[in-house]
Amino acid sequence: MNLSFPSGFVWGAATASFQIEGGVADRGRCIWDDFCRWPGKVLNGDTGDVADDHYHRYRDDVALMQRLNLNAYRFSISWPRIMPAGSGAVSARGLDFYDRLVDALLEANIRPFATLYHWDLPSDLQRLGGWASRDMAQRFVDYVDVVGRRLGDRVTDWITHNEPWVVAFLGNLMGMHAPGWQDLGLALQVGHHVLLSHGLAVPVLRALGGNQQVGITLNLYPVYPASGSEQDALAARRYDGFANRWFLDPLFCTQYPEDMMSHFGWQAPRIAPGDLETIAAPIDLLGINYYSRALVAYSEDAPLCAEQLHPAGEYTAMGWEVYPQGLTDLLVRVNADYAPHAMYITENGAAYEDRLVAGRVHDAARTRYLAQHLQAAHAAIQQGAPLAGYFAWSLLDNFEWAFGYARRFGIVHVDFDTQQRTPKDSALYLARVAAANAMDVNATQEEQ
Ligand code: FCB
Repeated sequence: MNLSFPSGFVWGAATASFQIEGGVADRGRCIWDDFCRWPGKVLNGDTGDVADDHYHRYRDDVALMQRLNLNAYRFSISWPRIMPAGSGAVSARGLDFYDRLVDALLEANIRPFATLYHWDLPSDLQRLGGWASRDMAQRFVDYVDVVGRRLGDRVTDWITHNEPWVVAFLGNLMGMHAPGWQDLGLALQVGHHVLLSHGLAVPVLRALGGNQQVGITLNLYPVYPASGSEQDALAARRYDGFANRWFLDPLFCTQYPEDMMSHFGWQAPRIAPGDLETIAAPIDLLGINYYSRALVAYSEDAPLCAEQLHPAGEYTAMGWEVYPQGLTDLLVRVNADYAPHAMYITENGAAYEDRLVAGRVHDAARTRYLAQHLQAAHAAIQQGAPLAGYFAWSLLDNFEWAFGYARRFGIVHVDFDTQQRTPKDSALYLARVAAANAMDVNATQEEQ
């Protein structure tokens, strides 16, 4: 069976600045540099100082993407590389780097999708309160303006933020990401300021002229109740409120979900008049990062009274359940409830314990993961979801946040001692699908 994707479908891979660039001498310090030096926070004390050394090897990496038939690349811009102190002085070197990267991509016929914030807040701004401070929203806009004016004649696809949920909650409620706080009220306020900065940045990027497509990327989960009971349905609804609606509703419906506002009570964010209208600025695209689902049961002891279950099944090296059907369900639901103009899967992929043997990585599990999720994405398109593209996470094995270099998500293997890149079987698979703009479902099954 041959499944064709719509003509003009975008095929890419994604990365993020802190996770791949290295080149630390040419940028300011960021909150992840600090977090890496907080004992016990990052596995093996790993840092982003060298990472994939992409800062010095970007030309080779672009050539590699071209060989893999990718027609798009989602990368992020490092705020501290553009403005080392977070505001004020602009680094010409930093801007030049992204300028050269964008030119190299365009020469290779690869469409750049630039994410403006993928978690590397300049440390000097954290000292002023970071995203907990309302002032950050304006500082973000100032930074976005500098980047937009330099790259906006060639970059037309912009993503303001990557995963505000993770910024707010992993960083400020669970303490697992930088800056490492554990305070619900603070986390909710951070989330609000991130959304506010998004809403303020949208018109700035749109004003660049041309055909600017502007949006935001959310990590979303289809949520399923563990049983038909009323209590489990309630738990699933609340989990959905926390994971999905908390960000989707303000972006698309000019309000935070009422049930969650009353649940959070006095810890709910302070919202100034006009904020909700700013946040709901019309966007051209919604980026969705999909990795897994949430199966939820009612439990009095769990936060939100919603406990996530781990049913028998297949799991990745992150301990995330492989659940391709969830991607179809999610895309169809987001389309039904929020009707975005266009959706992109801006991340999808899996970590496995890969082995490089005689210059090859036979990552059958990852190849299967990609194939199953592409098939699920195709099913959502059949059901009317306006899905315009797919980005695999990630182009390269890289710094996986709190797990350091101990989790490999790349479709390309990286030897962190030699910086040697080796496309895994999954990369060769994606290259074939991208070239054909279609997948042969039977061929994939045979390959495995
Ligand atoms: C997402 C992040 C990305 C990567 C993947 C595995 O939450 O956006 O940087 O770490 O998870």
